[in-house]
Amino acid sequence: MGPRALLLAAVLFCSAESSVHVSPEKVNVSAGGVVILPCSFPPKDVFPTVEWSKTDLKKGLVFLFRDNREDLEMKSPLYVNRTNLFLEHLKSGNASLRISNVQPADAGTYRCMRMWNNGQQNITKVELFVEMY
Ligand SMILES: *[C@@H]1O[C@H](CO)[C@@H](O)[C@H](O)[C@H]1NC(C)=O
Ligand SMILES: *[C@@H]1O[C@H](CO)[C@@H](O)[C@H](O)[C@H]1NC(C)=O
Ligand SMILES: *[C@@H]1O[C@H](CO)[C@@H](O)[C@H](O)[C@H]1NC(C)=O
Ligand SMILES: *[C@@H]1O[C@H](CO)[C@@H](O)[C@H](O)[C@H]1NC(C)=O
Repeated sequence: MGPRALLLAAVLFCSAESSVHVSPEKVNVSAGGVVILPCSFPPKDVFPTVEWSKTDLKKGLVFLFRDNREDLEMKSPLYVNRTNLFLEHLKSGNASLRISNVQPADAGTYRCMRMWNNGQQNITKVELFVEMY
């Protein structure tokens, strides 16, 4: 293993460790509605990169906040124009995700990853249930 492989192994090990967690928070919403998936971080002078993903989404992300703005490059078409963070609340460590016009297929487990430029990562999960009434 070269130094790069060792570094990768270290990164994988750290992220595996920080993803050991209590069971995900559960959130229910009616189809067609709006929902907020909670995520937060200790406020600092700089914002972390915030990556919202969904465990069964094979391609793309739900939301990526990087370099102080939304990065649309890797956004899944399924979530275009339906997701946002509360940018005015980022200062206070609020990285909660708002999803509008919730679809039945939105049900599942979401992952909020906060990545700091020192390499530290924090991951929490939220499970979304969509009710059809
Ligand atoms: C949320 O949805 C799940 C799955 O449909 C259901 O088991 C649970 O009772 C619901 N919780 C609330 C508070 O309605
Ligand atoms: C998203 O919103 C933009 C601006 O309103 C619009 O041009 C675009 O067609 C929308 N995309 C989708 C997939 O709805
Ligand atoms: C984040 O902000 C939204 C919008 O004001 C609010 O509904 C939500 O409860 C906040 N979440 C946290 C973790 O503070
Ligand atoms: C974030 O993860 C790091 C390890 O990467 C851990 O030391 C720290 O306590 C975590 N912080 C929070 C707020 O969970």
